[in-house]
Amino acid sequence: MRAIAIINQKGGVGKTTTAVNLSAALAATGQRVCLIDLDPQAHATLHLGVPFDDEYKSVYDVLTTNASLADVWRQAAENLWVVGSHIDLAAAEVELAGVPGRELILRDKLEEVEGQFNYVLIDCPPSLGVLTLNALSTVDEVLLPLQPHFLALHGLSKLLQTIDLVARRLNPKLRLSGVVYCMYESGTRLAAEVTSDVDEFFREARQPNTPWAAAQTFQTKIRRNIRLAEAPSFGQSIFNYAPDSNGAEDYQNLAQELHKAA
Ligand SMILES: Nc1ncnc2c1ncn2[C@@H]1O[C@H](COP(=O)(O)OP(=O)(O)OP(=O)(O)O)[C@@H](O)[C@H]1O
Ligand SMILES: [Mg+2]
Repeated sequence: MRAIAIINQKGGVGKTTTAVNLSAALAATGQRVCLIDLDPQAHATLHLGVPFDDEYKSVYDVLTTNASLADVWRQAAENLWVVGSHIDLAAAEVELAGVPGRELILRDKLEEVEGQFNYVLIDCPPSLGVLTLNALSTVDEVLLPLQPHFLALHGLSKLLQTIDLVARRLNPKLRLSGVVYCMYESGTRLAAEVTSDVDEFFREARQPNTPWAAAQTFQTKIRRNIRLAEAPSFGQSIFNYAPDSNGAEDYQNLAQELHKAA
């Protein structure tokens, strides 16, 4: 089982779009996938059309009660299950403040269902609080979506520091596996400049024995594509909403590249 957290504390860079469509792409190739929505905004949950009915339980219940992941997940498509989120999750930070080992709750819950999936992807909120720490303590790999923007590198050192601390104290297997560019506009000078700055940043930051020593930039870049922005309001992945779009092509290629990099 490969567990991958999709993290960037910067907002609106393409984390949720990547979590949802990458999960859907992997599921479509026959991999059993569980997507955990760890963001109180619940965008991934909405994107996959999970209904908030009377029975609705979320990852909030998993983190704050005895509920297991299996009590909460719902099937969203063939081979694809979603552990949904809820706005209540916004209170988890405060509610868990006095709980010893609060960073390790999700890891323990995932151990209970070990072996049921080929991939577990976690969509993280744009912050480095207790929710993101739970994700970092649980996974083997971090996938970092970046938007080629002049502030793309801003905050990256802080993120690497956090990954390093978690790797040393809580989760020695943690690695930054790759950077994926989202909302990429090829042919623009800005995109070319930012990608070369990011490559340079990782060259300089790269030291042996760091969790990012083997980090790569994915060949596949997710182009800016309006279909990707429209799909969430229909509660559909890009493969249901617009299977012939550039967005579908890019996420399918990214899934292939990720799968090969195992
Ligand atoms: N490749 C793309 N082309 C066009 N629009 C995109 C693309 N990727 C994402 N978007 C849109 O950009 C916005 C931000 O994307 P998304 O929600 O995936 O970012 P995020 O990092 O999860 O944000 P947050 O930090 O708030 O969780 C959304 O409206 C989304 O539909
Ligand atoms: Mg998001």
